[in-house]
Amino acid sequence: MAKQRRIIRQGSEAPGETVSILIPRSRIQKRIKEMARRIRRDFKDEPIHLVGVLKGAAFFLSDLARQMPGTVSYDFIAVASYGKDTHSSGQVRLTRDLDSSIEGKTVIVVEDILDTGMTLQYLLRIFQQRKPKHLRVAVLLDKPERRITSVRADYVGFTIPNEFVVGFGLDYAERYRNMPDVGVLTLRAGKK
Ligand code: IMP
Ligand code: MG
Repeated sequence: MAKQRRIIRQGSEAPGETVSILIPRSRIQKRIKEMARRIRRDFKDEPIHLVGVLKGAAFFLSDLARQMPGTVSYDFIAVASYGKDTHSSGQVRLTRDLDSSIEGKTVIVVEDILDTGMTLQYLLRIFQQRKPKHLRVAVLLDKPERRITSVRADYVGFTIPNEFVVGFGLDYAERYRNMPDVGVLTLRAGKK
């Protein structure tokens, strides 16, 4: 990783917060294109149904879908796990279900980041019961050091160190999601 990272501050809305770029937008776009082609190669002539986990996966899913040749449909599900804090409560709750059935479909669950694995473990259990033809997981980021479940992703964009990241859909207190790059968030000492 580049030694001299670009620093971003969000001004008065976010006092004491700094973000240093970890993965620039160009690398993200290049990698998503590779992932889309890889998934398509694995399921050659099949319609692929992407299931995005709101809200973090919205940008990843939209770029992945647009880079994927062939028939692609998508749907969204929403769960709540993180609050305003940078640490998960470990509790996962469904807040919005899918619009349509996934029975018999080739389903790729699209998630922004695989951290403890609690969210995906919960979702995969639900989805498996709904009898998809195939069930795979694509994550933009993987933070393996934090894992407390046996969940693994079939497609991983970037494996990252155990740092709190924001941007490209990932938030801190609902902010930074619209940053086109992924960066590491640092809070000034004393701020939680
Ligand atoms: P898990 O259930 O611990 O694997 O966490 C998954 C969810 O936690 C992700 O979908 C994110 O919403 C959130 N999350 C985990 N790590 C980070 C991070 O570094 N930055 C922002 N959100 C994160
Ligand atoms: Mg999320």
